[in-house]
Amino acid sequence: MSERTIALVTGANKGIGHEIAAGLGALGWSVGVGARDPGRLDEAVAALRAAGVDAFGVPLDVTDDASVAAAAELVERRGGRLDVLVNNAGITGGVPQEPTRVDPQIIRTVVETNVIGVVRVTNAMLPLLRRSAAPRIVNMSSSVGSLVRQQTPGAETGPIAAAYSPSKTFLNAVTVQYAKELAGTGILINAACPGYCATDLNGFRGHRTAQQGAQTAIRLATLPDDGPTGGFFDDDGSIPW
Ligand SMILES: NC(=O)c1ccc[n+]([C@@H]2O[C@H](COP(=O)([O-])OP(=O)(O)OC[C@H]3O[C@@H](n4cnc5c(N)ncnc54)[C@H](OP(=O)(O)O)[C@@H]3O)[C@@H](O)[C@H]2O)c1
Repeated sequence: MSERTIALVTGANKGIGHEIAAGLGALGWSVGVGARDPGRLDEAVAALRAAGVDAFGVPLDVTDDASVAAAAELVERRGGRLDVLVNNAGITGGVPQEPTRVDPQIIRTVVETNVIGVVRVTNAMLPLLRRSAAPRIVNMSSSVGSLVRQQTPGAETGPIAAAYSPSKTFLNAVTVQYAKELAGTGILINAACPGYCATDLNGFRGHRTAQQGAQTAIRLATLPDDGPTGGFFDDDGSIPW
């Protein structure tokens, strides 16, 4: 078994996931770089290694059972266990997403990646996480999934959307259910919002950098044993559901 802390970040070839991988690597951790495209995966691993990170590539499409199973086998061969899983991969599903106009297939596709993908990856990695002395799971959510914020005048809640925002509400609810089931196991699982960051996801319109967006996930990945579980956080603390 590796003595270094071992993390896996899904969707780590670019954007916030790449910055989470860089930040965890800067702690001296061994970081599995999850990415679905082989070329983008190799480039991301090379960039992280050039920056001094002990990075290893993990081919991983969160919507594909066989890909996820192979990723778990790769992580097991590499480290014998997993300490931290960051479920970062996500998509918006494009437009239109107004409930009255949305193509139901967009909802299916977004939920498949943003919610079922998280369940698929988490359950495949759980046997490896259970071997860790301090297992942590971070689910990259968004404050646009907060129903309280959605109903707060003036709050930054993104465009009206029947797929993306509700997928994050769903992910938050699933995170709470995991926390309840895993209570007492030592596994801490929380949802994170990175804030509005300039990435491919939003055509680089966000007002924060991806590196800033990575900070809450990094904090939740490094929680002490008495840290929270089943919560929803950004840089400022708890976000209302
Ligand atoms: N940017 C924001 O303002 C913001 C705000 C709130 C929440 N978030 C959340 O933060 C997370 C990261 O977003 P980002 O802004 O960094 O977006 P991004 O730059 O578009 O990166 C998304 C990552 O997810 C990967 N991905 C998508 N579908 C995948 C799949 N089926 N299997 C594996 N990987 C897949 C992408 O891979 P490819 O390169 O292959 O497409 C990419 O690596 C997402 O969960 C997003 O919802 C972002």
